[in-house]
Amino acid sequence: MGSQAIFNVKDEWWRSAVIYQIYPRSFADANGDGIGDLQGITERLPYLASLGVDAVWLSPFYKSPQADAGYDVADYRQVDPLFGTLDDFDAMLNKAHGLGLRIIVDLVPNHSSDEHEWFQAALASPPGSPERERYIFRDGKGEHGELPPNNWKSVFGGGAWTRPEGEQQWYLHLFDTKQPDFNWNNPEVRDEFTSVLRFWLDRGVDGFRVDVAHGLIKKEGLPDCSVQQAMIEGGDPGPMWDQDGVHDIYKQWRSVLDEYDGDRMMVAEAWVVPQERLARYIRSDEMQQAFNFEYLGSQWNARDVRKVVDDSLAQTALVGAPTTWVMSNHDGVRHASRFGLSTPGYRPKGISAKDEQPDEALGLERARGFAFMTFFLPGSAYIYQGEELGLPEHTNMDDKYRQDPTFWRTKGEEVGRDGCRVPLPWQADAPAFGFGPSDKSWLPQPPNFARYAVDVEEKDSDSTLALYRRVLALRAEYRLGKGELEWLESPTPDALLARNGDVYTLLNFGAEPVALPWSDVEILASSKALSAHQQLQSGGGVWFKRL
Ligand code: NOJ
Ligand code: CA
Repeated sequence: MGSQAIFNVKDEWWRSAVIYQIYPRSFADANGDGIGDLQGITERLPYLASLGVDAVWLSPFYKSPQADAGYDVADYRQVDPLFGTLDDFDAMLNKAHGLGLRIIVDLVPNHSSDEHEWFQAALASPPGSPERERYIFRDGKGEHGELPPNNWKSVFGGGAWTRPEGEQQWYLHLFDTKQPDFNWNNPEVRDEFTSVLRFWLDRGVDGFRVDVAHGLIKKEGLPDCSVQQAMIEGGDPGPMWDQDGVHDIYKQWRSVLDEYDGDRMMVAEAWVVPQERLARYIRSDEMQQAFNFEYLGSQWNARDVRKVVDDSLAQTALVGAPTTWVMSNHDGVRHASRFGLSTPGYRPKGISAKDEQPDEALGLERARGFAFMTFFLPGSAYIYQGEELGLPEHTNMDDKYRQDPTFWRTKGEEVGRDGCRVPLPWQADAPAFGFGPSDKSWLPQPPNFARYAVDVEEKDSDSTLALYRRVLALRAEYRLGKGELEWLESPTPDALLARNGDVYTLLNFGAEPVALPWSDVEILASSKALSAHQQLQSGGGVWFKRL
């Protein structure tokens, strides 16, 4: 109701799009070096078109020393040779557009790589020079400046300041030492990113996923954190996150995007609570979407899920933006594994062989069921590569393979995110499960990946891949992404029953089977077979119509 009238909502594609996240290193390897690449993506685009998604978001493929798997960019206008060339990018983009798929690229504006030419110039220039003013250099505390300028911690563990060998000053990095933070109060930095936006918009990209969107502006004077925190904790953003000044930047970017045709969009990666604060990033003159991390953190519990859904819909409606529904990404334990743990919420720190191991079958069952909620809801939905296969996390990887800087910076206390970044299995019987033409894979694939290989699931009408294809086709047919959600009284408190237009869903979070509330129904899809008496088993989800 209200939102349409107040905001004059148009029918832009991103309001209801299903967006598939590709993590380029791990999607498909065309040249056999064990690392996924752009050509590999191009070759597999028909697979994504047949899955029924509307758009693809690519994690970074820019020139980078890969200290944080590409989130440390050394040149924002070049493709890293690991992934290919700009021509490969253009070929990929053209083929995607030809298949009706839009392309969203990652933009990493909070920090660059320390190998970016600007940072190298900063190091070669004296304190106070214009070169240093592009980053955040400060004198240290203590008699000889030997102590860091403040008490901030890095999100990846350890301190947030580094004093390079032989240097008087320290520089700020909210992430790894090799990811110096830009000084966004410097107009030169702003101009540079406007130009980077234009560079990719001119090439034809449909949008940007904005990395660490809540971090660009730091509180004046860089005061100590009252509680030493690396992330927003208990709703306190501290002096480095969610500062009001970030919004001017997004307003300016929005005006740039609006100069282009085709409803180009931005989606914020902003770890901001509560939802009310997050909604500020998607006001009508800022970004179009923000990832809904509260939904991603949902417990396996009917009451909590309903509350997150209601809060999300209410807050985004107030600003006239669509909600996003996200279950997994490259920064946390895959939901098929998370849901198989004794406490299924968000797990950003990975799972090691020493931790509780998920119940694989239970997690998969619940992941399949949860898809019946995610793709039922109005708004836009995200898929993290491999989730359409029900792919689990690698939960007992040998530490010698680990590459996530978190593992090193926390001295192994957090194993980090490698377990969700393992290369995809395309063929059960091929070397590296068909990831590429060789037996190489930059992270080892666990043996159970054979069960989830695309070629196995293609042949099985009960596979998770078949289920995703069916659900996405129905979502499009019944226009669920553009619809409205209405909760109905559920047969038990442990289940959720809802309606979106002509379609109903029932999702059973409880241990006992739940009967469908009506007998005059046509089943459209279900994650588990229903019994003769239309009983939905524990963990199951179903969509149906009433006759
Ligand atoms: C968020 C990205 O998703 C993550 O992978 C990265 O490490 C940090 N931002 C730093 O860029
Ligand atoms: Ca490769």
